[in-house]
Amino acid sequence: AWKPDSIIDDAIARVREQVGDGHVLLGLSGGVDSSVVAALLHKAIGPQLTCVFVDHGLLRHHEGDQVMKIFADHLGVKVIRVNAEQRFLSALQGVSDPEAKRKVIGKLFVDVFDEESAKIDNVQFLAQGTIYPDVIESAGSKTGKAHVIKSHHNVGGLPAHMKLKLVEPLRELFKDEVRRIGVELGLPREMVYRHPFPGPGLGVRILGEVTKQAADTLRLADHIFIEELRKSGWYDKTSQAFAVFLPVKSVGVTGDGRRYEPVIALRAVETIDFMTAHWAHLPYELLDVCSRRIVNEIAGVSRVVYDVSGKPPATIEWE
Ligand code: XMP
Repeated sequence: AWKPDSIIDDAIARVREQVGDGHVLLGLSGGVDSSVVAALLHKAIGPQLTCVFVDHGLLRHHEGDQVMKIFADHLGVKVIRVNAEQRFLSALQGVSDPEAKRKVIGKLFVDVFDEESAKIDNVQFLAQGTIYPDVIESAGSKTGKAHVIKSHHNVGGLPAHMKLKLVEPLRELFKDEVRRIGVELGLPREMVYRHPFPGPGLGVRILGEVTKQAADTLRLADHIFIEELRKSGWYDKTSQAFAVFLPVKSVGVTGDGRRYEPVIALRAVETIDFMTAHWAHLPYELLDVCSRRIVNEIAGVSRVVYDVSGKPPATIEWE
């Protein structure tokens, strides 16, 4: 029988044997895999672990603070948070093509991570949240999106001078096993069972050029949508749900008068493998509450639409 605690004990023993009294660096993203690695390594080697959390300013509502609260405050993990919002926004100025935005964000992410890691003395190991499906994927085609996704998350370009050895304690595990271990290690269920979030974050959910104002508006709209999904029990019935910022101005009329503001699209999908997906048939009442709250609580939105496209033909993300 599969027991999370025996897997944890086994992983801890192996990590201790591999790293000895060496120091380990981990890029913490707040995603499930890197979070579970952080919790596991903390248990295995405590102060020999240092995490670098690059906050690109394109995270969800209060996400950066939550990551710090769980890891630094609650678990006592050593986490260096890099607030790089300004750098990312500057680098993204004038960039509106989706793939170009991904490249800018991915490259800067690696640069910032490398700069920060270079300041830490005496690191011999780099931990990564590689899980078994990643191992299979990179053994096959190297051109698929999955590979691109992981190369972003897992930090591809280490500075050559660092010559770090890899520590990958989740390499033999599937996602559901990683989640069970995460819960066992004391991570909040809510974090461990969170919907996937793309590495470029809100950068690919703000169509066209990314601005601070669009990011702030989108964060609030997304937060309202997710809050209502959780309240109604629909969060766990959907595989991924989020808001998208459409830089199209539309006319609206509210108690305060006329509005001429951007549009928010809501997207919720059900899928097994994220290769194909159905749009979630959310109750009209739920969509109604979300739509009213978004327009009432956020001045910079004129109207809300719901995406009823499957994949194919539409991808899950809008960019
Ligand atoms: P699409 O939009 O291709 O998305 O149907 C499939 C899954 O992949 C996620 N996704 C990304 N994840 N970096 C990531 O880390 C990316 O650039 C990226 N693009 C899409 C998407 O959120 C969905 O879960």
